Amino acid sequence: MVPASTALLLSLLLLPMAAAAAMDAAERETLFRVMEAVSADRDWRSESPDPCSAPWPGLECKPAGTGAGGGNAAASALMHVTRLDFGVEPNPTCKDAAAFPPEVFSLPHLQSLFFVDCFTNPAAATTLTLPAPANLSSSGLQQLSIRANPSLSGTMPPELASLRSLQVLTISQNGLVRGEIPQGIGELTSLVRLDLSYNSLTGPVPSQIGELKSLVGLDLSYNSLSGVIPSPIGGLRQLQKLDLSSNNLTGGIPDTVANLTSLTFLALSNNGLTGHFPPGISGLRNLQYLIMDNNPMDVPLPSELGSLARLQELRLASSGYSGPIPEAFGRLVSLTTLSLQDNNLTGQIPAALSRLGRMYHLNLSNNGLGGAVPFDGAFLRRLGRNLDLSGNSGLCLEDRSILRGVGVGVGSCRVAGGGDGDSSLLRSSATWRGVMKRGGGSRFGLLGPACVVVSCLFALNEYAPY
Ligand SMILES: *[C@@H]1O[C@H](CO)[C@@H](O)[C@H](O)[C@H]1NC(C)=O
Ligand SMILES: *[C@@H]1O[C@H](CO)[C@@H](O)[C@H](O)[C@H]1NC(C)=O
Ligand SMILES: *[C@@H]1O[C@H](CO)[C@@H](O)[C@H](O)[C@H]1NC(C)=O
Ligand SMILES: *[C@@H]1O[C@H](CO)[C@@H](O)[C@H](O)[C@H]1NC(C)=O
Ligand SMILES: *[C@@H]1O[C@H](CO)[C@@H](O)[C@H](O)[C@H]1NC(C)=O
Repeated sequence: MVPASTALLLSLLLLPMAAAAAMDAAERETLFRVMEAVSADRDWRSESPDPCSAPWPGLECKPAGTGAGGGNAAASALMHVTRLDFGVEPNPTCKDAAAFPPEVFSLPHLQSLFFVDCFTNPAAATTLTLPAPANLSSSGLQQLSIRANPSLSGTMPPELASLRSLQVLTISQNGLVRGEIPQGIGELTSLVRLDLSYNSLTGPVPSQIGELKSLVGLDLSYNSLSGVIPSPIGGLRQLQKLDLSSNNLTGGIPDTVANLTSLTFLALSNNGLTGHFPPGISGLRNLQYLIMDNNPMDVPLPSELGSLARLQELRLASSGYSGPIPEAFGRLVSLTTLSLQDNNLTGQIPAALSRLGRMYHLNLSNNGLGGAVPFDGAFLRRLGRNLDLSGNSGLCLEDRSILRGVGVGVGSCRVAGGGDGDSSLLRSSATWRGVMKRGGGSRFGLLGPACVVVSCLFALNEYAPY
């Protein structure tokens, strides 16, 4: 005789297997219609008549009660679709005439939905549409990712605002998706990551984004967003990554940005942003990347940036910065990359930069810098071709002995240069750029990694046709 406790255990063990076969008929019909709209990998109805009992890759089913669903004892015997993933093998691939299936949002227990590299046929454009808000209000969808679909068109659907359980929303690299970011986005207060990058979005960054207090990552880069960066963005205290680069944003960086003390990555390149920097920007203690090339800032570089001790990359090229490079930049001990090229910087290069032991890429080209280059042989050796000081007519190497240490045959170059320091530097600068474009000659190979732009200028005079 089997003890009662063992019988109970056996029935508990068998229950999931028996339940695996059971699926709500309407839910299964919706799943088949979605599969047929998107994928022709198999005849879904005849080859997978009971999907949840033998799920294909990209389909995940769970018994009711484990997800958003809940339910009574009878309902918990059913299996429900909780995840659908299309586009990249081993997941179902998308057929040539794949159409975006709005009915997928009617799967009542769906938690994660992915269309990646799915709608790609230029001859079969399909539209990103969502059902009416009433059909979405009970949605438990937590993750929606629609990425790299070049033939997906339409406007950013305002109905997204009804997907209240969303934690991760990615609608990215769908070049035909246009329109404005819906203001209702502010209602998605569970969002942790929002990525709408690389679409064709226009209009403003809605200030309602400031209501997404759980956001850790916000990426709106590579669109055509215009207007100002809304001040309420400074309320996103959890934000670690903010990327608004390559849009058409204007105005200043709002002062509230200084409140984003969790930020590690801030990218604002390729916009129409103008100076000044927020007072208190030195409070962004965790910032590791400040990427802000190509904005008409037209102000002096603020020395407060020198307080961002964790900064690894500081890119501020092509932005009309004038005045000197602040001495305080010499305190950026974590810095690996400093890009200040194509500005209007003047004065001397701060000697303190040469003590930044992690620096391996320094571009100060095309400014109005002058005076003696303060770098020693070890610094020049380390940076090699990643140091670019060209296009600063006032810069000179006061002490040739710094080049002796890095094995560059400078002596004779100086002679060949004819002693007219500044003008030979200028002339040979053009020569060097020409050589670089042609891929360099074998005679320059011996200059090795220490062949930084400014030092080579002297060496190259020997071979220049002047
Ligand atoms: C939306 O809900 C209505 C009423 O329940 C239903 O008839 C309709 O098919 C649903 N639409 C979608 C796209 O799920
Ligand atoms: C950016 O904005 C300016 C002025 O508002 C406008 O003239 C220009 O066409 C816009 N550029 C893009 C790429 O949207
Ligand atoms: C954010 O920054 C602004 C401007 O610097 C300041 O007035 C405000 O008090 C800050 N907000 C919060 C919530 O700390
Ligand atoms: C920067 O230099 C360019 C070229 O020399 C000049 O046209 C421009 O007016 C300067 N801008 C500032 C802000 O000094
Ligand atoms: C420095 O910047 C200039 C101008 O953008 C660019 O042409 C050059 O390749 C850069 N040099 C290095 C070493 O990165």
